[in-house]
Amino acid sequence: PKRVRTHHLREMKERGERFSMLTAYDQYAAATFDEAGIDVLLVGDSASNNVFGNETSLPVTVDELIPLTRAVSRSARRALVVGDLPFGSYQASPEQAYLTAARFMKEGGAHCVKLEGGVEMVPQIERLTRGGIPVMAHIGFTPQSEHALGGYRVQGRGETSARVLADAEAVQGAGAFAVVMEMVPGDVAGEVTRALSIPTIGIGAGAECDGQVLVWQDAFGLRTGTMARFVKQYADVHGVLLQAARDYADDVRAGTFPGPEHTF
Ligand code: KIV
Ligand code: NA
Repeated sequence: PKRVRTHHLREMKERGERFSMLTAYDQYAAATFDEAGIDVLLVGDSASNNVFGNETSLPVTVDELIPLTRAVSRSARRALVVGDLPFGSYQASPEQAYLTAARFMKEGGAHCVKLEGGVEMVPQIERLTRGGIPVMAHIGFTPQSEHALGGYRVQGRGETSARVLADAEAVQGAGAFAVVMEMVPGDVAGEVTRALSIPTIGIGAGAECDGQVLVWQDAFGLRTGTMARFVKQYADVHGVLLQAARDYADDVRAGTFPGPEHTF
């Protein structure tokens, strides 16, 4: 299959074709989603919660994310692989951002990186773009700024919609090839999508974005518990694994596994 490139996403936007993106943090998820035709795989800093068991995305480190990125980039034959720069690894300066992003490309095999922020990230986006690293921006609700934003809440309601548009135009102007919009009212996301020439990718940002992204552990039901309103449930992977593990434990207790057919 022909590799998805950043320019393909832009061409899809121009043709009015939607594209899909999912998180992936390991070999089998990456290979399966790639086989399914998912266009973009994000090695998200959401691995902090979904792989490492943290409460938020803040604690995860570059050293923890790079091996996951390498696993995904080795396993995806077609999808564009995005490395997500974690909290504290790019905000300090454009130089810090470049050194971190270069590690995701060299050691992780990422094809591009994602970072959170709008107007304030223009110097970082310009530096990376100039240095040959394609950048996907992430605006609206940005989880790494949870404490600064005062919790998980929709961004860009009412008068603050101008801020979302200003952020979107700033990241496009700085050279970003796409922008994720998280928890933004659907009409605002639609307006931004029409205003930009680069593709927008929504998560909790309505149906008018050029692409959509979800965390697979949420959408496919590996994680249980409270789910954000924007998550659609496509499967119950937790239920499948739970039943399989129970059946195995029962078999072992009962002595019905291994059978003669499993024995040398
Ligand atoms: O880390 C992540 O999973 C993300 C997506 C929610 C866009 O940034
Ligand atoms: Na992220």
